[in-house]
Amino acid sequence: MNDAASITDALSHGRGGELSADDLAGFLDECELDGGAIDGALGEAARAVTERIYGKSVYVRGLIEISNICKNDCLYCGIRKSNKNCVRYRLDADTIVSCADEGYELGFRTFVLQGGEDVYYTDEVMCDIIGRIKSSHPDCAVTLSLGERSRDSYRRMRDAGADRYLLRHETANPDHYAQLHPASMSYENRIQCLYTLRELGYQVGCGFMVGSPYQTNRHIANDLCFIRDFYPDMCGIGPFVPHHETPFASFPSGTVEKTCRLLSIIRLLCPRVLLPSTTALGTIHPRGREMGILAGANVVMPNLSPVGVRKQYELYDNKICTGEESAQCRDCLEMRVRSVGREIVTDRGDVKK
Ligand code: 5AD
Ligand code: FES
Repeated sequence: MNDAASITDALSHGRGGELSADDLAGFLDECELDGGAIDGALGEAARAVTERIYGKSVYVRGLIEISNICKNDCLYCGIRKSNKNCVRYRLDADTIVSCADEGYELGFRTFVLQGGEDVYYTDEVMCDIIGRIKSSHPDCAVTLSLGERSRDSYRRMRDAGADRYLLRHETANPDHYAQLHPASMSYENRIQCLYTLRELGYQVGCGFMVGSPYQTNRHIANDLCFIRDFYPDMCGIGPFVPHHETPFASFPSGTVEKTCRLLSIIRLLCPRVLLPSTTALGTIHPRGREMGILAGANVVMPNLSPVGVRKQYELYDNKICTGEESAQCRDCLEMRVRSVGREIVTDRGDVKK
């Protein structure tokens, strides 16, 4: 199978499992030459699948950016440890818990605690925070996005009540992984973490950046095969956006078109996956998140961090939602979701099994 029409047909009719990495790589090349007709067909099919499973609902996750201190040095990331011009902060347990309390009042039933790999957040500190949020709001899910930790650490946080974990795999190609990360980080460990998290009973999210430096369509085809085979509960994909204080400052951003195309393909390969329309997509286009929803995304993540630190959690340049209060950010997204005929729901938004 290798012409674009038969691949579009296979993806649209639940036969994406038959496609090889070669098929997908060639297909992505074709999509770029075709002027939008294939993207239109993919978007329509992906939207139909999303609505069949999740209806008109779009789930919200309250994002709390707990720290921009990081011991890692990922070449693409604005909070990498080599960025000496980054003004660092970390939120203490009380502040994080009060962000979650505020979010609860605004209708959030999932909180995502995301941060750099900051050693301040020992298992004890994290378990205390998770336990406090879960005991005040037992109807809520707690999602962690704290990078690579030991199996024991993941287990303790799971025992403390954490429900989900986001750890983007970043690229499913070891050589490409090495081009994006310092030698101290390993592709094997990252993938191992994902399997460990799943085994411990977390709902797990992986994902990658679209248009990251040196990425080819062959790399993306391998990402798609990895995602199809791993079948994550959640999958975070957004465009790469350069940060001026990183070695990748002068690489171009990923595009809206390609990000939306990949959202649609991932929806068709993994129909039940929870797929956010990311802040990075909203950063490169004023209606980027709306376009992501129309392409098959069904999750949005308004910012619940204290306004005073939002600008400092700068993974990439020109990040949006840094000046708004939590309530404003939520209302803004509510309006955006309605503008594309969908609705935000007050629900934990678990994956439909
Ligand atoms: N552009 C877009 N996304 C980025 N991330 C980190 N740096 C950037 C960037 N410059 C993404 C990574 C990480 C997630 C938290 O943010 O994929 O896993
Ligand atoms: Fe945050 Fe619009 S979504 S301000």
